[in-house]
Amino acid sequence: MAENNKLKVELCMGSSCFARGNSGILSDLEGFISENGLEDRVELEGHLCLGKCNSGPHITIGDKEFSGISDSSCAIDLVRKALEEIDAESNLH
Ligand code: FES
Repeated sequence: MAENNKLKVELCMGSSCFARGNSGILSDLEGFISENGLEDRVELEGHLCLGKCNSGPHITIGDKEFSGISDSSCAIDLVRKALEEIDAESNLH
């Protein structure tokens, strides 16, 4: 989790990952965040090529790395699940 307690979602913006799906995932995640008013809970960031293009596109959600996610709805589900896990954990404390 990011220092400011936001869920950090990082997308590889290298040319391979971008072309293989992260371009659409980025805009769909931005839409998901704004439609659900999650701007203060999710921090979306891009990064340069990791040198692992063959297994891309790459996305990191919190401390979990995912590869080969080329579908926006799958990426959105993973972000939603990560937020639910954070909520569940905070309810335990
Ligand atoms: S472009 Fe994403 S790992 Fe190379």
